[in-house]
Amino acid sequence: MAKKYLTWFKNYQKIQSGNFEKGNIEWFIGGKLNACFNCVDRHLPKKANQIALIYEQEEPDQTEKITYQEMKEKVCQTANLLKSLGVKKGDPVAIYMPTCPAAIYTMLACTRIGAIHNVVFGGFSANALRERLIDCKTRIIFTSNHSIRKGRRIFLKKMVDEAIKDLDFIDHVVVHKLTESEEDFHEEKDKWYEESIAKESKECLIEEMDSESPLFMLYTSGSTGQPKGIIHTTGGYLVYAGMTFDYIFDYRENDIHCCVANIGWITGHTYTVYGPLLLGATTVLYEAVPIYPTVERYWQSIDKLKITSFYTSPTAIRLLMTFSDQNVIKYDLSSLRVIGSVGEPINPEAWLWYYKLVGRERCTLVDTYWQTETGGVVLTPLPGVTPLKPGSTTLPFFGISPVILDPSTGNVLTENNVTGLLAISSSWPSIARTIYSNHKQYLNVYFNQYKGFYLTGDSAFRDSDGYYWVLGRIDDVITVSGHRIGSMEIESALVSHSHCVEAAVVGIPHEIRGQAICAFCVLKDDPKKEEQKKDLDSLRISLSNQVATQISRIAFPDQIVFVNALPKTRSGKIMRRILRSILIGKTSQQDFGDTSTLLDPSVIDELIEQVKLQK
Ligand code: PRX
Repeated sequence: MAKKYLTWFKNYQKIQSGNFEKGNIEWFIGGKLNACFNCVDRHLPKKANQIALIYEQEEPDQTEKITYQEMKEKVCQTANLLKSLGVKKGDPVAIYMPTCPAAIYTMLACTRIGAIHNVVFGGFSANALRERLIDCKTRIIFTSNHSIRKGRRIFLKKMVDEAIKDLDFIDHVVVHKLTESEEDFHEEKDKWYEESIAKESKECLIEEMDSESPLFMLYTSGSTGQPKGIIHTTGGYLVYAGMTFDYIFDYRENDIHCCVANIGWITGHTYTVYGPLLLGATTVLYEAVPIYPTVERYWQSIDKLKITSFYTSPTAIRLLMTFSDQNVIKYDLSSLRVIGSVGEPINPEAWLWYYKLVGRERCTLVDTYWQTETGGVVLTPLPGVTPLKPGSTTLPFFGISPVILDPSTGNVLTENNVTGLLAISSSWPSIARTIYSNHKQYLNVYFNQYKGFYLTGDSAFRDSDGYYWVLGRIDDVITVSGHRIGSMEIESALVSHSHCVEAAVVGIPHEIRGQAICAFCVLKDDPKKEEQKKDLDSLRISLSNQVATQISRIAFPDQIVFVNALPKTRSGKIMRRILRSILIGKTSQQDFGDTSTLLDPSVIDELIEQVKLQK
């Protein structure tokens, strides 16, 4: 497969080495290759004039098409710009841009010269960006003057200015002009992207990279307050990206693939950029929300562009289901062969709607399970091969050996009809190799809890046919609209508010977004005092805004309950499962499981009362 999907400058000598105990996994050892060459240059002899990128912007009439030849020239100019700004092999480069061609050119330009791109989701706040820049100490950041969401501008460049205030290690800010607008420009650091690359050559030498050289880093949430910089390496990640894209989306020449994920997430990396471009496909860059300007936006694009594979999230499907079926039925969706779902469990009702209304009971619906850390899909049906079951991610992809572990003993549950921790028992090419500057945390989070296994952090059920049903996270990670957010990141944003001394955040089921964020806050003053009640609503708004400025609007709490104390163990750990149970209406002792480690069991009654009162 490595030879089928990639062109190697030097063959690898060994396929795989290392183990989970040591966390020293390597694949295709000794091989030399370049990601950009594999995604761009090698296609040119046959496909120079084929469309590589279709840039579908918010307004339905804004579509731009870019050929492989045009993409190669822009990538080379960007790579030369990087070099002229002093970027070298192994340097990190931050990209804080919307999903647009210039962002893709920058990602590929980094890989051409061996720099490591670090795409930060454009919906993150200045503060969240700053935190990530500090962690990876990047000298250079690429941004856009703004992005556009539902017709409104979001001023990314301003956010960058705020994020880098007093960060003296940032030397350059390269600003892509999405549309004309006046921006604050700081001559000593800022450069316009378009003007700068226009001066550069359209040819740029390719750096030969080791198979295990880092390709990119991408921050994701975990169980701690700090996001983790997940590192993927070149050979293994690319083999797996190309191969999974080919098999799961049943790629055929002239296909038009559309993954609507933003490039700030792993889904955008693997199935908008790397997977399709490795195969020389046409990939749609979708910079639009599903309900703007109308709720027909997705179906209109499929019809207009003749999309053959379409990949979205259960949240989008659940949202679109709430509108009339006629909005879908009236479009010609006959170009579609495969439709996909990712990011969270898809409930059977949403699955059936997607399958019938969009797939017209003709397309394969691939419910694909994976993570930032897995690099590519690990559980999935294969079109034309796997009998489907609504709501199940079905079976492992080639080379993946999932196991279900008993959480208390750590034993592998070998039978079917079992529920437990979802783990993987041997390495695959695109497993993350480390957490940036924290290999110890990498070992602790994924490998040390149950020796010999990669722990996903999800629980799953394996049914009598051996099919997997992913049930959701068992750690303190919340998945809202398919976005992964750490409870502790939100908690630390809340306690940074001057009125909040303690906070606990949990996710509870939400009809459309999968999970809703609920926060319990202990205030400096007694929240129950009658005269304060009026102020509590404005305090809720102010606390929510604090979360939006510290992290992102995607982490905005749906509910904030003020309480006197949080349920804590004697060692000071918050028992979030008790909060979750109370929020979903549980009131009896048996519903809370083992509470013997609670420091003050009477706290439960107060919590039940406050949840009722503050509903
Ligand atoms: O809980 C699982 C959920 O999303 C988590 C990974 O999030 P992230 O690293 O942001 O990557 C999302 C896109 C690959 C997982 O631990 N998840 C992802 N896909 C599914 C899913 N849960 C159920 N079914 C899925 N198909």
